[in-house]
Parts: sequence; structure tokens; C-alpha cells
Amino acid sequence: MDVIDRRRSVRAYQSREVEPGKIEELLRAAMQAPSAGNQRPWEFLVVRDRDALERLSAMSPYAKHIAKAPVALVLLGRKGRMRFPGNWEQDMGAAAENILLEATEQGLGAVWTGVCPVPERMDAVREQLSLPDELTPFAVIAVGYPEKEDASHFVDRFDPGRIHYETIEE
Ligand SMILES: Cc1cc2nc3c(=O)[nH]c(=O)nc-3n(C[C@H](O)[C@H](O)[C@H](O)COP(=O)(O)O)c2cc1C
Repeated sequence: MDVIDRRRSVRAYQSREVEPGKIEELLRAAMQAPSAGNQRPWEFLVVRDRDALERLSAMSPYAKHIAKAPVALVLLGRKGRMRFPGNWEQDMGAAAENILLEATEQGLGAVWTGVCPVPERMDAVREQLSLPDELTPFAVIAVGYPEKEDASHFVDRFDPGRIHYETIEE
């Protein structure tokens, strides 16, 4: 539970680069995620170019942190790998969470930045990154060393009221 408890969305980063080995660890974590029928629909685009990061940050009003991040991981679904097309977003979500947890483990800060299913954001990412039709953008995860020392802190969100045993009584 430790890394789960300490995972927080981190939107402010040091200018320090993220080592390529650490980026690979994040992507290894992503690819260990479960997926429907083991279809593994994912592809990952690693963006470090400052101009490209700046452009990506314009894809949504909630993506400004991307402009200041040393690296962004763009999570993409490949249509040709979707044997169970109705499940691809769930697969991608599991991969995204694995990245966030591994980032916490590595002393990095990261934030899931929503793209899919908002059409304007998906179109903007597709256009900015010149994606082929075969690839569908799912999310962008900005990554960097956290600016604040206490970025990874526990917030208790356990709510026993959300748990039901055997029946739901409203
Ligand atoms: C599907 C999804 C989309 C999200 N989109 C954004 C986003 O566009 N911009 C952003 O700053 N945070 C985004 N977040 C992060 C949430 O705001 C964050 O997880 C939530 O406020 C809880 O805070 P915590 O991650 O620190 O626990 C997203 C999270 C999820 C799961």
C-alpha cells in the first residue's frame, strides 16, 4: 500500500531531466498492466522536445503543467490490436495507473492528463503529434522530479459508507 498511499498528482517540476532508464521503468510498469484478453492495445510516445510539450499543453484548459514538464508520456491505443474494442479504455487506464505508481516509486511526480473521450482534446493531440489514424490518443502523463519536497503525501480517502455487504440499502 505504501506507494499507492503516497501517489499524488504532481503538476510542478524541477527543471532536472528524467533519466532515460527511469522513463523505461515507467513504460515497463505500464506494459505489465492487465488488459482484456491480454490484447495490450497500447503504444507510448515519449515527448521531451520543449516546443512539442508547449503545444501539447494547449490541448485542454487542464494541461498547462505539460509545458513545464521535462517529459510527457502520450498513451495511445492501436486499433489493430483491439480484439475487444469495448475494453481498450479500461486497458489503457490500468497502464496509466501503473505508470503513476512506478513514478512514485522512482521519486518522480506525475499527473494523468485527460484526453479521451473528449473529442476536441483527442483531435488536438492527434494534430499536434501528427498521429496516424491507426492510433487513438488516450491520455498524457506529465512526469518530472517534483518541485515540492512533500509532493508524495498521504491523503486518507477511505470511506466506509461506500462499502456494501451482500445488499445495497438506499
Ligand atoms: C481520467 C483522469 C483524468 C484526469 N485529467 C486531469 C487533467 O486533465 N488535468 C489535471 O491536472 N489532472 C487530471 N487528473 C488528475 C486528477 O485531478 C487527480 O487525480 C485528482 O484530483 C485526485 O488527486 P490525486 O491524484 O493527487 O490523488 C485526471 C485524473 C484522471 C483519473
